[in-house]
Amino acid sequence: MQKQTSRSNFSGQLGFIMAAAGSAVGLGNIWRFPYLAAKDGGGVFIVCYIILALTFGFSLLTTEVAIGRKTAQSPLTAYKKINRHWGGIGILACLVPILILPYYCSIGGWIFKYLSIYLTGQGNAAASSEYFSGYISSSFQPLIYMFIFFAITAFIVYCGVEKGIERYSKVLMPILLVMVVGISIFALTLENTGTDGVVRTGLDGLKVYLIPDFSGMSVKEFFVILMDAMGQLFFSISVAMGIMVAYGSYVRKDTNLMRSINQIEFFDTLVALLAGLMIVPAVFAFMGEDGMSAGPGLIFVSLPKIFMAMGEIGNIIGFIFFLIVAFAAVTSSVSVMEAIVSSFMDYFGFTRKKSSVIVSIYTLIVGGIVCLGYSSLFFEITLPNGVVGQILDILDYLSNNCFMPLVAFLTCILVGWVVKPDVIIEEVTQGKYKFKRKWLYVVMIKFIAPIMLLFLLLQSTGLFNL
Ligand code: PFF
Repeated sequence: MQKQTSRSNFSGQLGFIMAAAGSAVGLGNIWRFPYLAAKDGGGVFIVCYIILALTFGFSLLTTEVAIGRKTAQSPLTAYKKINRHWGGIGILACLVPILILPYYCSIGGWIFKYLSIYLTGQGNAAASSEYFSGYISSSFQPLIYMFIFFAITAFIVYCGVEKGIERYSKVLMPILLVMVVGISIFALTLENTGTDGVVRTGLDGLKVYLIPDFSGMSVKEFFVILMDAMGQLFFSISVAMGIMVAYGSYVRKDTNLMRSINQIEFFDTLVALLAGLMIVPAVFAFMGEDGMSAGPGLIFVSLPKIFMAMGEIGNIIGFIFFLIVAFAAVTSSVSVMEAIVSSFMDYFGFTRKKSSVIVSIYTLIVGGIVCLGYSSLFFEITLPNGVVGQILDILDYLSNNCFMPLVAFLTCILVGWVVKPDVIIEEVTQGKYKFKRKWLYVVMIKFIAPIMLLFLLLQSTGLFNL
């Protein structure tokens, strides 16, 4: 059963940009991007990411926002309205936030834990290399912090007060940016003698981060990096999961879509690149090449070391930093949860209350399992992309490396070949706005994106191996 609700609009261009950026800038930029960049050797990953952002990212974001604005519907029904045989993409897209929310809340819990560490002035204890692994493998605390993070998210969604929260983004996001820049500059001045007696500096780390080094890289390794970069891009700009379709449906017809999309993408990519700049050189200085493949725990291991190196003031900087990251994480998790809650309302005709309660029960159970995946429920498997992962990595892999590329692939076929790109171009150029990279958009959506996506999808699911 579908309910028709009247759509309120964003208050003009800035409202849309702020809301979309609030969803886009989150743990993806600060936690996920740096650890992937480090794992994938820095430079090559960065180059792949930037090229993909300018081509793939721009094409997908444009497509989704335009579909939303054109149909004025949520993703569950929007794709069906574009073509009645293709409604399934909407359902598939809605599965992605369902996979993401529980583990997003577990990481959010880690952020809250570190916030409390710096609040109580224990930053130096957290700087020891075993602290993080000791924490996540304890059975009780991670559950509590995940619960607190989720409770805040659920409260905001349940009460429908997202708009109020987003007002703070305007102030906090620029502060976050300034802090990230400041910490990055500090990280570049670091110098450390490793246990192997080698002196490594932040500047050496900067070279690793920025200069691509293809030497000795096999084609297979390159594809893993490319796939990582693509999964990260989807996650980071919140595409291939229906969210941007939902945001698009609230955008007024007189808003300049192209300009807004460029600004959202620029800001999101900037925060990610700078977060990498803050983390990767420091990891290199403190832990050398070996420390770079630490995976999801990377920022929790390396940031405390940077803050400790700052001396006395490190505790305060650490506190403010984790506070703002916590805020960015909450605004994003609110958008993930809102996507699921509103889908359930649309699809099953649930009230907001009922939908929120069901999503909460689900998230607490699965989020709990994710937390316990490092203690009582611990097990590891090797994923098709070579990563040895726990429960969190499995959910992350399923959403980012399997479902999102699949949604993106189907969207490309629908827009490129079934309804044709003109439908999107018409929507973007409403009100006589220019679509500057139109040719690039058409070539991407019809040819390059679907071929690459298919290839990478087969590769990432292990059906095809180079
Ligand atoms: N884009 C967000 C981030 O980078 O943290 C994460 C995110 C938001 C993922 C919304 C999924 C989502 F539905």
